Amino acid sequence: METRITRLLNIEHPIIQGGMHYVGFAEMAAAVSNAGGLGIITALTQGTPEKLGNEIDRCKKLTNKPFGVNLTFLPSLTPPDYPGLVDVIISKGITVVETAGNNPKEWLPILKEHNIKVIHKCTSVRHALKAQDIGCDAVSVDGFECGGHPGEDDIPNFILLPRAADELDIPFVSSGGMADGRSLVASLAMGADGMNMGTRFIATKEAPVHENVKQALLAASELDTRLVMRPLRNTERVLKNESVERLLETESRLGADTKFADIAAEVAGVYPRVMIDGEVNSGAWSCGMVAGLIHDVPTVQELIDRIMSEANSIIKDRLASM
Ligand SMILES: Cc1cc2nc3c(=O)[nH]c(=O)nc-3n(C[C@H](O)[C@H](O)[C@H](O)COP(=O)(O)O)c2cc1C
Repeated sequence: METRITRLLNIEHPIIQGGMHYVGFAEMAAAVSNAGGLGIITALTQGTPEKLGNEIDRCKKLTNKPFGVNLTFLPSLTPPDYPGLVDVIISKGITVVETAGNNPKEWLPILKEHNIKVIHKCTSVRHALKAQDIGCDAVSVDGFECGGHPGEDDIPNFILLPRAADELDIPFVSSGGMADGRSLVASLAMGADGMNMGTRFIATKEAPVHENVKQALLAASELDTRLVMRPLRNTERVLKNESVERLLETESRLGADTKFADIAAEVAGVYPRVMIDGEVNSGAWSCGMVAGLIHDVPTVQELIDRIMSEANSIIKDRLASM
């Protein structure tokens, strides 16, 4: 299947693995790229530029296909060394960067100068248009369903994707709630050039996370996510658990007065405990509503092959026969 995204990124299938904190290590990114999609290493998980460089080197040993690096700009008390991370991305010859969070304008000139394709992830049409204006090559449009940060507009993909298609000139991929061949065909029908998946890729054999995390996704339904950090205007969709219930009680008690410090116990430093140690109830971790569509733990190759063959048969058999 050839789309503007496969051509732009030089990949076989129009499927991207979005950056994921403590999931987007070399093993994850390489497995997706080897299966014909675009795998993405998450820069902030590595922490320092030197460690990111090592992770990129490790990924290059695992695949000779293109893979990207995610740069997330979120509010932080001690900002990461973004200039150092960007230098490493450039010096290691990375060809695709996924940006997320704040406007990546400051970094566009240097990334473009080195011929790096920039995909900005955004949750609204106005941010997507802004990304197009500042020179991003593509956008990833994250609907309200998504795991992670859906923004504050709460627009689901059935509205957001066609709205994006009506307004944008640059290619875009759907993101949020994507799981299978049906998701891909629906995304293409609504004007996208491919799809981005987060949560679905965690439930794969190669995802370098604790088995408890994969089992938690299998056990969860579409009813099991919650929105946290709304009062801070930093909304995150997470899997519900006892820590999340506690966090939500605090937020409903304090309302608009909630400060980060009030909920730090449930959100700070949670990812290594969940993803590495498997303590899935120890805090709030991102998970999409798509958990309701996850019923197995295939290899990444099996997952992507299944998506592509299901998509092709929907197009050629089901739709063509109507
Ligand atoms: C566990 C987890 C961690 C994530 N971490 C990040 C991150 O660090 N940076 C980022 O830009 N997006 C992050 N995301 C969002 C994904 O890249 C992607 O946009 C989102 O998962 C898409 O929605 P889906 O989960 O319904 O597929 C994360 C998602 C999950 C599930």
